[in-house]
Amino acid sequence: MGRSWPTGRRQKSALIPGRAEEMKPRIGVLTSGGDCPGLNAVLRGVTLAAEKFNYEVVGFLDGFEGLLPPGNFMLLNRRSTSGIMPRGGTILGTTNRGHFVAKVGAGDRAVVPADVIAAAKRVLAGERVDSLIIVGGDGSMTTALQLQEAGIDCIGVPKTIDNDLEATAMTFGFDSAVASVTDALDRLHTTATSHKRVMVLEVMGRHAGWIALHGGLAGGAHVILIPEIPFDFDKICDALRMRDTRGSIYSIVVVAEGARAAKGQVVMHPSDEGEYRLGGIGGVVANEVAARSGKETRCTVLGHLQRGGAPTTLDRILGTRFGVKAVNLIHERQFGSMVSYQNYQVRHVPIADAVNRLRLVPPDGEMVQTARDVEISFGD
Ligand code: F6P
Repeated sequence: MGRSWPTGRRQKSALIPGRAEEMKPRIGVLTSGGDCPGLNAVLRGVTLAAEKFNYEVVGFLDGFEGLLPPGNFMLLNRRSTSGIMPRGGTILGTTNRGHFVAKVGAGDRAVVPADVIAAAKRVLAGERVDSLIIVGGDGSMTTALQLQEAGIDCIGVPKTIDNDLEATAMTFGFDSAVASVTDALDRLHTTATSHKRVMVLEVMGRHAGWIALHGGLAGGAHVILIPEIPFDFDKICDALRMRDTRGSIYSIVVVAEGARAAKGQVVMHPSDEGEYRLGGIGGVVANEVAARSGKETRCTVLGHLQRGGAPTTLDRILGTRFGVKAVNLIHERQFGSMVSYQNYQVRHVPIADAVNRLRLVPPDGEMVQTARDVEISFGD
């Protein structure tokens, strides 16, 4: 039996038959996976850079799902991208589920069904879209690789607030997420001081501690717990008592969602969709610290506030540079490449080198050592 495809908000091309623009080469772009600040800067960068080469830009909606028949898309041009750079989220919509989800966990590679890819090819051919810019994280790059292998010319643009892709030194979205953590910690400092409490802040980052480490450093945390350094509850309490002896009446603890006790497991909770998601370690740490130290303790889970809102200056610039680079890579026909940030330069690497390779915090690296040197405990 044939697969049934969702019917979407398909937008017909505004092309007028007979006009010269009709034959402009068309490139496609989509945003996939979890959203993050800076995606709209990429879309604006793609659209404006495409003008230079006389490309028309087709933005597919809701991630890869927009590629399914009958095609769900909008044209991106100066008008539709005007004023979007400061906006968080993505004007194209996104999803981290659906027919193309090609990653079912760290290291696993699920195969996108052949009929799904064939259907996408038909839509792309029908709309005269020659190549596709895929803006997404590790899972989306796994899908991009499979589309490329199936003959769809793809360019990847890395995106994740977690900053955990080995193939790029930095992704846009990370700086904005860290800014949210820093802002939250500044606020927690004032209430923690007033009440002489221990305040625990749980932050995102999946299996990497970058958001916790950078946010904790910038926000003046006293304890930072990251997945890369398993912790001991008693060591955390020792660090808090040490602060007492120095006359510090309150403490701030930042916990990455993927952190775990050396003698414990990563904390997950079931979602409405029947999946398990990271989250809950903040509450566990707060309860244990309160029980073992007798200190009044509260927990805040920052959650999706880290993904929302306006991008920082850095993320606007990085997003724009990534978008422009993606169009240049299309023009150079460097298909199968992913934009990559290395040594302050925007370059490219094979998408194949980018998937399934996580960049984790080196426990003995300079950042961790710097944190230790300013008396931050990692609970180890
Ligand atoms: O990968 C980005 C991220 O925000 C992680 O830090 C977090 O674990 C996850 O996505 C949350 O995903 P969702 O939006 O599906 O809850």
